[in-house]
Amino acid sequence: MPTRIKIFDTTLRDGEQSPGASMNIEEKLEVAKQLARLKVDVIEAGFPISSPGDFEAVKLIAQQVKGPAIAGLCRAVNEDIDRAWEAVKYSKKPRIHTFIATSDIHLERKLKKTREEVLDAAIAAVKRAKGYCEDVEFSAEDATRSDVDYLCQVIEAVIDAGATTVNIPDTVGYAIPEEFGKLIRTVRKKVPNIRKATISVHCHNDLGLAVANSLAAVQAGAGQVECTINGIGERAGNAALEEVVMGLATRKDLFGKTTGINTREIHRASRQIADVTGLVVQANKAIVGANAFAHEAGIHQHGVLQDRRTYEIMDAESIGLTESKLVLGKHSGRHAFESRLRELGYHCSKEELNRAFARFKEIADKKKEIWDEDLEAIMSDEVSTVPEKFHLQCMNVFLSLDGMPTATIKLTTDDGLELVDAGIGIGAVDAVYKTIDKLVDIPHELIDYTVKAVTGGTDAFGDVVVKLSDNGNIYTGRGTSLDIVEASAKAYLQAINKLVYYRERRLRGGTGEKARL
Ligand code: KIV
Ligand code: ZN
Repeated sequence: MPTRIKIFDTTLRDGEQSPGASMNIEEKLEVAKQLARLKVDVIEAGFPISSPGDFEAVKLIAQQVKGPAIAGLCRAVNEDIDRAWEAVKYSKKPRIHTFIATSDIHLERKLKKTREEVLDAAIAAVKRAKGYCEDVEFSAEDATRSDVDYLCQVIEAVIDAGATTVNIPDTVGYAIPEEFGKLIRTVRKKVPNIRKATISVHCHNDLGLAVANSLAAVQAGAGQVECTINGIGERAGNAALEEVVMGLATRKDLFGKTTGINTREIHRASRQIADVTGLVVQANKAIVGANAFAHEAGIHQHGVLQDRRTYEIMDAESIGLTESKLVLGKHSGRHAFESRLRELGYHCSKEELNRAFARFKEIADKKKEIWDEDLEAIMSDEVSTVPEKFHLQCMNVFLSLDGMPTATIKLTTDDGLELVDAGIGIGAVDAVYKTIDKLVDIPHELIDYTVKAVTGGTDAFGDVVVKLSDNGNIYTGRGTSLDIVEASAKAYLQAINKLVYYRERRLRGGTGEKARL
């Protein structure tokens, strides 16, 4: 049985299939770089045939991200496999990941193929992929609802054809830990050539058991776990990387396994995914939720003060959480600002730093104490990933309880125009959004709006995330400010700027967003 468990991250592929989690190409590259810092073994960077945007993202990551193997997903079809290779071939460690379903329900209702036809397609796909690279993974989609003997027959055949990893997905999140562990043991027993390949598992969370199933599979002999940051993914999501990794590390006494993960990068990776996708992490989420290391009950606090181990099974620092520091104030200089950012893990360009520092000074004038969380909010807001077509120049909002909220807004454009207008709405934010809509005149639909406070107190930062839809393409914008109406305006404009940027790129024939699969 393997003692070193490989971590295969599919945040950029299965994770991106979460409703509303689309990322643009620059965001994907940043995420991939963070995954490399986390030291995952494999990054599944996308599904190259699914769209030109996905293809370009996989190619760019293969070209630029060093360390992990870079995988591209493809169905068991020649055209898909060729396209996946075209994208991953730039990596020093390319992997082709091909899949076909093996359950009768998928064969009969979706593929309209017989078991023999699927077996032949699986073998042919692996052989074709093997013609391109050594590292080939095969997935038997819906494995947990497949006939076990047939599943074993397919696995044996694809290993003979050259698969180096065989993945057993619980595609619909149907399995229960004991039975999933048993399935892995059966595969190990019944597939004669199984030692020539790594057994991988890929569990979905429809019954909330994705992590439990993955860990049961590890105990039964799986050598690779597929997972995503924050557990994002199709429907109820995938197994959460941070939970799998910290489960194995914290209960090493039981599992006796290691991973290559640098756990101190977990918190940052989690935050980055929440920022770019707008999928907020619930406060009580294991490992990375805001309350995961908080103690409310007096008796717990007392115990922790005597010895943290009374109520903590993990050290917060092991996932990269440092005690939030009251770092800076209005007299802090650029050097202190820059060095704290570096300690927090930000590596910014000179221009980004200038912008962030100017913003920091502006805020420090109004807010006496600037905490780490405030700096993180400034950074995620200021370091936008697309050029600003529209910039918020000034905004006046008039609010009275029995009157009509009114917003007057001036925007400047990247080609030097000044756009001014005023509008009314049913609330201050509505008035602002209606006025911006008149100014930019770009059709879209607002599909989500969330607001939260970054730190406590009435002078806390307001953190707003909005999602806009343009013909099924989703754009996330984020804005922070001491004033939530201003934060709302910035988030809205950031999403509009992304929409404009990617729409223009698509029209120029560049890398568009992915058509939803
Ligand atoms: O859930 C699933 O079965 C998948 C495969 C493509 C691995 O995502
Ligand atoms: Zn999946």
